Amino acid sequence: MFDFLFGKKKARTLTIEGVDSPISLDGKETILKAALREGIRFPNDCRVGGCGTCKCRLVEGKVDELTESAYVLSAEDLEKGYVLACQSVPKTSVKIVVDRLETGAASHPVIQAKGTIAHRRPLTHDIAEIVVSLDRPFTYTAGQYARLSIPSLGEADRSYSFARACPAGGTSEVSFFVREVPGGMLSPFLAKGACEGASVVLEGPFGEFRLHTSARPILAIAGGSGLAPIRALLEDAASTKCDRPVVFLFGARTQADLYEVEAIEAIRRSWNGPFVFVPVLSHEPADSA
Ligand code: FES
Repeated sequence: MFDFLFGKKKARTLTIEGVDSPISLDGKETILKAALREGIRFPNDCRVGGCGTCKCRLVEGKVDELTESAYVLSAEDLEKGYVLACQSVPKTSVKIVVDRLETGAASHPVIQAKGTIAHRRPLTHDIAEIVVSLDRPFTYTAGQYARLSIPSLGEADRSYSFARACPAGGTSEVSFFVREVPGGMLSPFLAKGACEGASVVLEGPFGEFRLHTSARPILAIAGGSGLAPIRALLEDAASTKCDRPVVFLFGARTQADLYEVEAIEAIRRSWNGPFVFVPVLSHEPADSA
């Protein structure tokens, strides 16, 4: 009863339906930050209140909202008590329900690792593979992505899909395909700058994209740096002797924009069933070889 007089604040907790233990809340962290800190695979994307991916239903407690959520959430959502987890700072202990809590894929804890860019390999005129050496093992499911930032360039982070399958037990070396976006914060440095040796911070893994268990044929379609998750996913499936029929369409403007073709051919040869690989070119001269 003297807490009020002595300024002692009551500990606040975050309870997520379907998650065993409540999470204690620190300072002014958002619901999303608290959940990710505990390794919960909470759906999220932009983290600035713009995409709605992190929406959740507040069933108990009160929150302060950092931005106006009515631009993103529908009137019906607001009526039902939905809030944006990335923009909601609990004022009291809260209980939420997350419609799309990521529980289907192998659950890997979200961690933050430090590392350096060990190597860059140019792939086309605007795409390069960067290989990052990490200070600790990192585990992910093929198809997932990580957020990468370069402290010397500021706090901005960008999301990149892992380009290779994750070895059993994790890996301390991860790679990404990065396409240069002119004027971009990170990609020009990663794709063409003197990035080797630069310190990086990696957070993840995130995302639900993965190969679902099934016997049905696989139609894979990729273009540009979007090859990364498909390459990782097929490489991973090939290593488990997957025999599902595959048709893989890889789109590019010209032959010069195709890359990793040999690696895809190697996956195709090791595949345990039918595998058709079709490069699709939109701007190749009609009379080219
Ligand atoms: Fe995009 Fe929260 S992650 S609105």
